[in-house]
Amino acid sequence: MSSNNFAGKIGAILATAGSAVGLGNVWRFPTETGTHGGAAFLLIYIGFMLLLAAPIMIAELAIGRHGQRDVLYAFKKMNGGRGHWAFMGYLPVVAGILVLSYYAVVAGWTLEYAFRALTNDFFNKTQATFQQDFTTFIADPLRPLFWIFLILALTFGIVALGIQRGIERGAKIMMPILFIFLIVLVVCSLSLPNASRGITFLLNPDFSKVTPHTILSAMGQSFFTLSVGICCLCTYACYFRKDVNLFKDGLTVAIIDTAVAIMSGLVIFPAVYSVPGLTADAGPALVFITLPNVFQYVFGNMPVVAYCASLIFYMLLVMAALTSSISMLEMSSAFFHKEKGMSRPMAALVMSIICMILSIACSLSFGIWNEITILGLGFFDLFDTVVAKILMPIGGFLICIYLGWSVKGDVVFNEVTNNHTLHQPLYPVFMFVIRYFAPTCIFLIFLSGLGILKI
Ligand code: ALA
Repeated sequence: MSSNNFAGKIGAILATAGSAVGLGNVWRFPTETGTHGGAAFLLIYIGFMLLLAAPIMIAELAIGRHGQRDVLYAFKKMNGGRGHWAFMGYLPVVAGILVLSYYAVVAGWTLEYAFRALTNDFFNKTQATFQQDFTTFIADPLRPLFWIFLILALTFGIVALGIQRGIERGAKIMMPILFIFLIVLVVCSLSLPNASRGITFLLNPDFSKVTPHTILSAMGQSFFTLSVGICCLCTYACYFRKDVNLFKDGLTVAIIDTAVAIMSGLVIFPAVYSVPGLTADAGPALVFITLPNVFQYVFGNMPVVAYCASLIFYMLLVMAALTSSISMLEMSSAFFHKEKGMSRPMAALVMSIICMILSIACSLSFGIWNEITILGLGFFDLFDTVVAKILMPIGGFLICIYLGWSVKGDVVFNEVTNNHTLHQPLYPVFMFVIRYFAPTCIFLIFLSGLGILKI
C-alpha cells in the first residue's frame, strides 16, 4: 500500500474523526449549548448534523477520494475539468492557514492550562483569582506565543512525518487516549451530588427558549465541528483507499463527533451545577475560568483527585486540539507538496511559519493590539468570522453545487458505491440534500449570518 494513503480503514476513520473532534467539541460545544439553553439546542444541532453537515462531509469525502491526490486535482478530475471549478483547490490553502492561525491560539491556551494543572497551580484558588489569571494570561504579549509556537511545532512534526507515520499513527495513539480520558471524566462528573441538574440541562429540552439565533448557532456549530465547507475532510479523503465505504465511515465520524460533544457536555454541566452560584452560560470562559474552579470546589477535600481530574481534562483538550490542528496544516501543505513539488517537510514548515506569524497577530488582539480592528473586529475575531461565517458556508454551498449539478450522476454513484460493489440505500436522500436542501439552507444561513436576512 502506497505511503500516500492511509494504510488501514481504522486509521482512516480515526484520522478523520481526529480532524473533526477538537476544541469544537470540548470547548465550543459546551459554550454554545450553555449559552443557548441546553437540551433544545442539542436536539436542533443533532438535526443539522444529520441533515446538513454529515451529507456535505460525505460529499467532500467522495470528491477527495475520487481524486486520490489533492483537492485541486480532485475538483478538476471529478467533473472532467468543466466549468473552471479548479479554483476550489485554493480554498483549503486559504482556509487552512486562517483557521489554524486562530485555532492555534486557543490550542496554546489549552497547553498553558495543562501545564498549570501539572504544576498544581489551581490549588486553593477562588473563582475571582481564576478570572484574573485567565484575563492576565491571554493579554500577555509573550507567554501565549510560547505555547502557540509549541503547538505549531508539534503539529508540524506530525505532518512532516507523512500520512502513515505521522497523521495516521498520531490519530491511532491520541484518539483512544482521548476517549479513555473522556470516559474517566464522565464517570467522575456523573458521580457528583448535583449531577442530575446538569444532566437535565443537557438532555431535557425546553423549546420555549429557542430563538432564531439558537437555530443559526446550531447550524454554525454543526459546520464548525465537522470542519465542513473548507475541504478539510476532502483533503484527508484524497488519502482514503478505494475500498473505504464513504457513507458508513462518514456517518461513523459524524456519530463519534456528536458522541464526544455530548460526553463533553456530560463532563462539564454536572460539574458546573455542583458548585453553588455557577451557571452553564459562562460563555467561552467556561473551560478556562469556571472549570478549574469547579475541580477545586467539588474535589476540595480530595486534592489528589482534583489534581488528576484537572490534568486529565486539560490533556484531553490538548489532544483534541492537536488532532484537528494536524488536519488544518495538512490542508495547505498538501497543495504545495502535491501541486508545487515542494517536499512534504518543507511545505509543512513554510505553512507553519505563516500560521505562526498570523497567530501572533490573533493572540496580541487580546492584549496590546486590542485597539487594532478591521471592520470593527480584532484579528482573532476577524479570522473566526471569515472562516466560520464566510468561507465555511460559501465553501459548503459550492461543494453542493459542484457535486449535485456539475459532476455527472453516475460518477457520484460509482464513487459512493465503490463501483457498484456496495449497496447505498441512502443515496437518493443524500443526492436530494446535496442538490436542493443543503444549498437552500446554507444560502439562508449565510444571509442571516451577514445580517442581510433578519429572522
Ligand atoms: N472540527 C474541528 C473542531 O471541532 C475544527 O475543533
